[in-house]
Amino acid sequence: MSQGTTSSTKPQVHATVEAVRSAVLAAKRDGRRVGFVPTMGALHAGHLSLIRIARRECDFVVVSIFVNPTQFGPHEDLSRYPRPLNADLAMCTGEGVDAVYLPATETMYPPEFATCVEVTGLSDVLEGAHRPGHFRGVTTVVLKLFQVVPADVTYFGQKDYQQQTLIRRMVADLNLPIEIRTCPTVRESDGLALSSRNVYLSADERQSALAPSRCLKLAEDRLRGGDRDLPAIRRAMFDLLAATPHVRPDYATLIHPDTLEEVSHVLPTLVAVVAARVGATRLIDNQIIEGI
Ligand code: PAJ
Repeated sequence: MSQGTTSSTKPQVHATVEAVRSAVLAAKRDGRRVGFVPTMGALHAGHLSLIRIARRECDFVVVSIFVNPTQFGPHEDLSRYPRPLNADLAMCTGEGVDAVYLPATETMYPPEFATCVEVTGLSDVLEGAHRPGHFRGVTTVVLKLFQVVPADVTYFGQKDYQQQTLIRRMVADLNLPIEIRTCPTVRESDGLALSSRNVYLSADERQSALAPSRCLKLAEDRLRGGDRDLPAIRRAMFDLLAATPHVRPDYATLIHPDTLEEVSHVLPTLVAVVAARVGATRLIDNQIIEGI
């Protein structure tokens, strides 16, 4: 079968550590390059783009589907997070995924579970400041997944810019033998970044949900137009969000691409980042701005 066409071979679905690990190790013994895409399911075209890049670059592609409870705060949407498992598996089949790791919560977190990994500093700002404990949950589960799925390369979305920055830090700091690829954000034609949470938006909120991507564009346009007044650009980003019905901004700012610190002057590369609640749905987005 040529690459990029749909497949009808169903992936192996593994629920245990032993089963998925031995499938991955067998593929590696055969000299196959193994690619791994960790997800929480409710797959959309953003996830599929990661899977397609993995399919292109690797010989054996593993997708994990696990709604990780430890990265949700007590008042967040864990219980109502979408779990359309059959549709997810059908999409994995369509993309020619070789194996799906689908652990039960007790498999990932048995009652005696007591270990966490935390990337200090980078996990305290932006999303970390608004979602205490979130990134400890992310890095812990991702480290576990990397142990269980010993892949050669793993695929993350730029959509979650801070998340991929932390994962890169963790992989470097702990000398994990895995390569990380960060893949571009997939958007609706009107600019809204795809997210599993977009299904929560009402029709009115869907319109308002364009504010984050518009505010990123505003920042990029002003910087490319020669504006160097970063505090004024930040204010304009925030005001655009705040002026949109149903939108309550958390932050809108310009940061250093690696340290995630707010920048005080223009750099060759910086990242515009935004987080806002649209109705009850929290959305994040970002744009790397290069060559200014
Ligand atoms: P989830 O939100 O399901 O996202 C899985 C991967 O898909 C992440 O790397 C995310 O950045 C990427 N992704 C999401 N929307 C995207 C879009 N519009 N374009 C491109 N990529 C997109 O992120 C998580 O799950 C979890 O935190 C996880 C890493 C699986 C740990 O539990």
